[in-house]
Amino acid sequence: MMDELNYPELPNDLESFWMPFTSNKEYKSSPRLLARARDMHYMTPGGRKILDGTAGLWCCNAGHGRTRIIEAIKAQADRMDFAPTFQLGHPAAFELANRLADLAPGDLNHVFFTNSGSESADTALKIALAYHNVRGKGSKVRLIGRERGYHGVNFGGTSVGGIVKNRQFYGGLISGVDHIRHTHDREHQAWTKGQPEWGAHLADDLERLVALHDSSTIAAVIVEPVAGSTGVLVPPKGYLKRLREICDRHDILLIFDEVITGFGRLGASFASEYFDVIPDMVTTAKGLTNATVPMGAVLCSRKVHDAFMAGSSAGIELFHGYTYSGHPLAAAAGIATLDLYREEGLFERARDLAGYWQDALWSLEGGHHVIDLRNIGIMAGIELEPRPGQPTARATETFHKCFDDGVLIRVTGDTIALSPPLIAERSHVDQIFETIGSTLKTVA
Ligand SMILES: Cc1ncc(COP(=O)(O)O)c(C=O)c1O
Repeated sequence: MMDELNYPELPNDLESFWMPFTSNKEYKSSPRLLARARDMHYMTPGGRKILDGTAGLWCCNAGHGRTRIIEAIKAQADRMDFAPTFQLGHPAAFELANRLADLAPGDLNHVFFTNSGSESADTALKIALAYHNVRGKGSKVRLIGRERGYHGVNFGGTSVGGIVKNRQFYGGLISGVDHIRHTHDREHQAWTKGQPEWGAHLADDLERLVALHDSSTIAAVIVEPVAGSTGVLVPPKGYLKRLREICDRHDILLIFDEVITGFGRLGASFASEYFDVIPDMVTTAKGLTNATVPMGAVLCSRKVHDAFMAGSSAGIELFHGYTYSGHPLAAAAGIATLDLYREEGLFERARDLAGYWQDALWSLEGGHHVIDLRNIGIMAGIELEPRPGQPTARATETFHKCFDDGVLIRVTGDTIALSPPLIAERSHVDQIFETIGSTLKTVA
C-alpha cells in the first residue's frame, strides 16, 4: 500500500534546522531522510523500504500509521482543538488518566501529564521535593541519580543523568545532586542472557550516599529499571528490590524512569510490573501515544498524591503544570493507543516473542567486533569493540550501512541498541539480526 503513495521531494535546503543529538555537519553532507511510515517500515523519499528496528526512537510500540490512533486524533481535533487544564478540564484527559491508573501496577493511580520524557523527569523530581515539604520534611532536598542514567535534557533530568557528554557543557547544573554507581560490570556480567546474576549488592551504593549526606537530606532516587540510552544495561537480579528496601528504610522516594520500558517493551505494562518492584513514581512518555502526539505522564502513588491533598491548605496543591498538560489531541491519541495495546494483546505478544528475539540476538555471539550481548523483553544491546583511537566510529558506520541495507538500528557509543515495534513478526527479527551480522563483516 505504501508503494502507491507519492513521495515528497528532498528538501533543497537543510541549513536552518539545527538537528538534535546529531552531527549536523556530517548529516547535512550526507542526509538520510524518512518520508512515510506504515506498520514495521519507514519509506525514504525515493521509495526505499526501511525496516524499523528501533520503534522510531523507542516509541512507536504499536508500529506506524495505525488507523485507530490517527482517526482518534482527527476526531478530537474536529471536536475541540485545545482546552486548558488549569482550573478547567476536558473528558479525554480524565479518561486517559483513569486508564493509566488501571494499567499501572500497585497504587500508582494518580497521573500528572507532561509533554515529553524530559518533562516527566523534571516533574517527578519537583513532586519529590514538594512531597517532603508538604509533610514538614523540608530538609530532604537532595536528588540522587545513577551513573550512565538518562532522564532527558531538561535541567533536572540532566543533573541526575549520568552520561558525561550530556552534562559536561552545562556548568554546575542543579545543586544537591549525587549519583550512585551504575550496574554494569563486563568482568562479571558479559554474555548474560537476561538479568545478570551478579550485582544486586550494587544497590548498597545508596547506603554509601546516605552515610555521606544523611537520609534527612535526601528526597528521591531516580533510575531507569533497564538503562536504555546508555546501551541497554539490564538490572542484576535482586538489584531493584534492594533499592526499594533501602529507600523505604530511609524515607526516600523511588522513581522509575520508564520512558523506554513502559508500554510493553519488556512484555508487561511497565518494568515495575515485570520486576515486581513498585516505585513511588513512574515517569513515562513515548509509547504512551505511540509517539503520534507528544505526551508524557508521571504516575504517582497514592502516598505521594495524598500527601499533597492532606498537607496543603485550601488552594492549589502543586504549583506546577504545562499549558499542554493533558492536551486533547494527545489524550485522544493516548486512549486509542491503550485500546490498541489491549485489543491486539501487544504486551503479551512481546512477552511471547522475547525468546525468539533472544535466540536471534545470540546468533551474533562470536560475530565480528562483538564483545557483549545484552537483552531483556524486546530490547537488545550489541556492544562492539571500539575502533582504536576512534570511539563510536565503528558503530556509526554500522548504522549507516544497515540503513543502506534497509534496516534502521540505533547506536549509542559503540553499542547497537534495538527495540522494534511490538508488532514485529519473526521474519522481521530475522532480517534485523541477519542484516547486522552481515554488515559487521564488512565494517573495518
Ligand atoms: C529513560 C528516558 N528518560 C527520559 C527521556 C527523554 O524523553 P524525551 O526525549 O521525550 O524528552 C528518554 C528519551 O530517550 C529516556 O530514554
